Amino acid sequence: MRKQTWVCAHKAKGEWTDLTDSSRMLSSATCPDPAPGLAEPLLQVAGVVVRFGGIVALGGVSFDVGAGQICGLIGPNGSGKTTLFNCISGIYRPGRGEVRLEGRSLQAVSRHRIVDLGIGRTFQNVALFRSMSVRENMLAGAHHLGHTGFVANALRLPAVRREARSAQGRLDQLLDLLRLREVADTPVGSLPFGTQKRVEMARALIGQPKLLLLDEPAGGLNHSEVDELEGLMRRIRAEFDLSILLVEHHMNLVMRVSDKVVALELGMKIADGTPDQVQNDPQVIRAYLGEPVAAQPAQAAHV
Ligand SMILES: Nc1ncnc2c1ncn2[C@@H]1O[C@H](COP(=O)(O)OP(=O)(O)OP(=O)(O)O)[C@@H](O)[C@H]1O
Ligand SMILES: [Mg+2]
Repeated sequence: MRKQTWVCAHKAKGEWTDLTDSSRMLSSATCPDPAPGLAEPLLQVAGVVVRFGGIVALGGVSFDVGAGQICGLIGPNGSGKTTLFNCISGIYRPGRGEVRLEGRSLQAVSRHRIVDLGIGRTFQNVALFRSMSVRENMLAGAHHLGHTGFVANALRLPAVRREARSAQGRLDQLLDLLRLREVADTPVGSLPFGTQKRVEMARALIGQPKLLLLDEPAGGLNHSEVDELEGLMRRIRAEFDLSILLVEHHMNLVMRVSDKVVALELGMKIADGTPDQVQNDPQVIRAYLGEPVAAQPAQAAHV
């Protein structure tokens, strides 16, 4: 009953306008509910359009992520996933449409303020200070948490010491959770790619985000590291009470870990629903396999 109410509320806002018939059908079926009592979804992507000259990277994409959800964002190369991350994190401004966090538009919010508001991210091609240690890179992500001013810092007032202890406590927790303690003082540039990806995740998490954007966290990882990543995402969600928007080409991982999945193709949303619904969606199968919908076997389950 509550599911139906949620879907209707969104339809009432007219946010289905850019959807295909197939994604309408999926969306109105059984998308996982947002947390009870939460008036707005945590993240709303509403009609976002981004153009680069003549290229339409995003052609009016809309979807929601509820509090506590893991939402997979899939699509073939060039479908607009990273561009969407750049809009959510304030690197790009949509030409049309907007992104909202807890109902608040991020349209005029600076990139740094977006971090303050609770959006943390990792990058498809790791973006860390290579000559700095793991610990130093992580603390760079905690920078915005300090509320004490310049004078208080210069005088080392009690509030400053409390903040430093709190950042240190979170750093310790993350060093253990992400298995980084042994390399805490090692320069990041000398670490394997998989470890650097965990450092990026730690740097995002130390900022206490409500929403964590992960851009291809499994890229370059081996089989057992991918399994470990799946467990890690579940633990991160539980321990830090946050939502995750996950861009990933590793379909098994996405389908196992996500509560809902959104699929893009050429900047348009082609499906939005549960992992089962999306991986069996003819449009999604066609986008990945490049075959006509009619030629797909009814039971095709892998995308
Ligand atoms: N800064 C840019 N300038 C011009 N075109 C861009 C720019 N960034 C992205 N594009 C184009 O926008 C489209 C979407 O790119 P985007 O990087 O968002 O795709 P993606 O889904 O993340 O792909 P991948 O899976 O390969 O990472 C592509 O056609 C890409 O070439
Ligand atoms: Mg990308």
